[in-house]
Amino acid sequence: MDRISQLPDELLLRILSLLPTAKDVVATMVLSKRWQFLWMYVPRLVYDDDSYQGIDYGRFSRFVDRSLIFHKAPVLETLHFKLGKICGAGDVHVWIRAADKCSVRELIIEIDFSSSVTQATLPRSLYTGCSTLVKLKLDNAVLVDVIFSSVSFPSLKTLSLLEVKYPGGDGFVKRLLSNYPVLEDWDVERCPDDNVTIFTVKVPSLKILSLRTLSFRVNDDAQGFVIDAPSLECLDLVDHAGGFCVIESDMPNIEDADIDVTYHLPRKILSSIASVQHLELCLLTSKDAYPLGSIFRCLTHVKICTCEVEWLNLLMRVLNDSPKLRDLKLEQYHPLRADEPRPCWNEPSQVPLCMLSSLKTVEWVKYEGTKEEKEVGDS
Ligand SMILES: *[C@@H]1O[C@H](CO)[C@@H](O)[C@H](O)[C@H]1NC(C)=O
Repeated sequence: MDRISQLPDELLLRILSLLPTAKDVVATMVLSKRWQFLWMYVPRLVYDDDSYQGIDYGRFSRFVDRSLIFHKAPVLETLHFKLGKICGAGDVHVWIRAADKCSVRELIIEIDFSSSVTQATLPRSLYTGCSTLVKLKLDNAVLVDVIFSSVSFPSLKTLSLLEVKYPGGDGFVKRLLSNYPVLEDWDVERCPDDNVTIFTVKVPSLKILSLRTLSFRVNDDAQGFVIDAPSLECLDLVDHAGGFCVIESDMPNIEDADIDVTYHLPRKILSSIASVQHLELCLLTSKDAYPLGSIFRCLTHVKICTCEVEWLNLLMRVLNDSPKLRDLKLEQYHPLRADEPRPCWNEPSQVPLCMLSSLKTVEWVKYEGTKEEKEVGDS
């Protein structure tokens, strides 16, 4: 222990930041005089109410209150709450106020899914009390509706909203966005009863966007996304439940895209990302995948999922329209659509240009030698 105690403060604080929870960090104060005040300067604190199970609720919240009040680091890099086992979001407003005093850069609030706490409604102070935040991640919480009077998150660059519910509906989601003037990276994972029909993303500064709706939702043609993000460089769109995605402005800087959707008419999506270099595709349709005559001039890497009936025709279209393609990967990354007949392989009348000039590698993951696979492989 003593050899460790001789290390400089800075290094010890880094070590303390690696401890799993704030409880462990604070416990080090009893080690010796050298450690007595060190915990107050640790830049990363994780409060996990799971470690207080079996003890009364008040003890956990008092512990959080006190340790935040005594905290003295000029900047708290990460403040992470894992709640739901014994504690709802009831005290979060007090902690957010304390957190603002410590200039928190990254705030994470995760509510346990198996939680007995019915709803974790986050307090309104979240919008006004965290002016220094650069990263915000909310998991399984409820974001209440508010009337924003001014920009609430002037420095926020990264936002993750996982399984969040929005009682304010579509309109609130739209308004929420005008509050992030420098947001660059936004990650949304929607949950079945989030009370949003059309999820609008309109952020001029956005570079990375990930929107996911998984298939446990009932397929609903009225549900969808609207994207207006002209600076986007990376788009990850996974929607197995919605009906559409409207892209309102071209995205000339797109480099990477993963489009995995069960829409019947996805054609506008691919034509808005014509500059893409790395592309992953899983689509229901090949004919309506993108407008006739589109060329992917920059596309060098493509991965196509083979779970859908139309994958082969989609592959042929993409090969024909991608003159610079270098790497091709085929992989079935969803279960097969069981009862639909698989497509027939029609020998193409012409060899796609990229196969003669640029194509270097073809990888087929989990190739099983079925008849369909063999026919494609042979030609
Ligand atoms: C859903 O959103 C609408 C506004 O679009 C609101 O009037 C309604 O109360 C919300 N419902 C729930 C259950 O939160």
